[in-house]
Amino acid sequence: MHNNILDQLTDYPFDRLRALLRNVEPPAGRPQIHMQIGEPNHPAPDFIGPVLVENMADWGCYPPPNGPDTLRAAIAEWLAKRYDLPAGMIDPARNIAVVSGTREALFMAALLTVPEQKAGAKPIVLMPNPFYQVYVGAAAMARAETVLLPAGPETGFQPDFASVDPAILERTALAYLNSPANPQGSIADLTMLEAAVELARRYDFVLAVDECYSEIYTADPPPGGLSACAKIADGSAEMCRNVLVFHSLSKRSNVPGLRSGFVAGDAHLIALLLRLRQYGGAQLPLPVMNASEALWRDETHVEQSRTLYREKFDLALEILDGVFGATRPGGAFYLWLDVGDGETAAERLWREAGVRVLPGEYLAQTDASGSNPGRSYIRAALVHDIETTRDALNRIRETLEP
Ligand SMILES: Cc1ncc(COP(=O)(O)O)c(C=O)c1O
Repeated sequence: MHNNILDQLTDYPFDRLRALLRNVEPPAGRPQIHMQIGEPNHPAPDFIGPVLVENMADWGCYPPPNGPDTLRAAIAEWLAKRYDLPAGMIDPARNIAVVSGTREALFMAALLTVPEQKAGAKPIVLMPNPFYQVYVGAAAMARAETVLLPAGPETGFQPDFASVDPAILERTALAYLNSPANPQGSIADLTMLEAAVELARRYDFVLAVDECYSEIYTADPPPGGLSACAKIADGSAEMCRNVLVFHSLSKRSNVPGLRSGFVAGDAHLIALLLRLRQYGGAQLPLPVMNASEALWRDETHVEQSRTLYREKFDLALEILDGVFGATRPGGAFYLWLDVGDGETAAERLWREAGVRVLPGEYLAQTDASGSNPGRSYIRAALVHDIETTRDALNRIRETLEP
């Protein structure tokens, strides 16, 4: 006996990759380079070591479910500064939920928002295609219908909410938006974010903006869901109505193992999320919360990391100049390369060059027209040091160039 919806979920992309490469031997005597996973290899800021050690006694306590006030205050200050928000818009007591990484929180967003019915029918969850895999699993487990919005070159690699049929919007309970996007690195501009917020309010659905790559960008800092709420400022006491944003320390601060992030936005939804987490969420250990506070209060390490990513994209464009449609993304740290057939390319790269990348089709679903928008792509994460990255990029070019 089990929940039969689990049978509908495909294996996770990394499991599919393991299965694809199970019998493929990489070349002997060449160091393997793993670019399939978005796990930053830049050093974690060493100032968190002493914070973890100083707070050793706290491992003996159940942590407060929503963290100490000092952590939420640091987050509120960070948000206000980063997105230039009006004073008081984010109240650390009402508008912030501390979460153990955003993956779980993005999953819970569907449990939080999807009712039994909307507009007398099965509720819908909108999401971009390609997407972050969790959105699909969350929608399915919440018993919603998934509607995929194309996010390929024809729409600037972001979904076009304006083109969604009003009959679909009536039934929409939740819409995921990811900016900068994984895997394409595209950015939703302020106009698009405002339009999405307005639609969410008009049709009463929740807009969940996944901003976990917000600090890794090429030119100007990308706007976020809260920038749009501040811009709209319609005089309502709840400025974040219908909107939740998701932020993580994993990519910003190179600490994916710390499992630390937050959700901010609509106070009513935050209260319900905290209730849901009381039942099914893990609190962050107190030493981790204190280390998180120190990380949100420091920008130096974030700037250093951003510079390193920019240097790696400079290098990528130099080495992959004119091939595989390589472009500098607005943000995030992925190369999204059009190689013709992503699975074949991933297999060849592993067999011939010892470089592991993810086939793009594992990050997307076949759409109504029968095509998978990720099929011709591979995703390579530029998460290593510059010399390893140079080596990997040269191997990719040598192996795949026709
Ligand atoms: C788009 C996107 N959202 C959310 C996450 C989850 O990050 P974390 O759970 O480490 O905060 C990831 C991780 O790869 C991601 O790529």
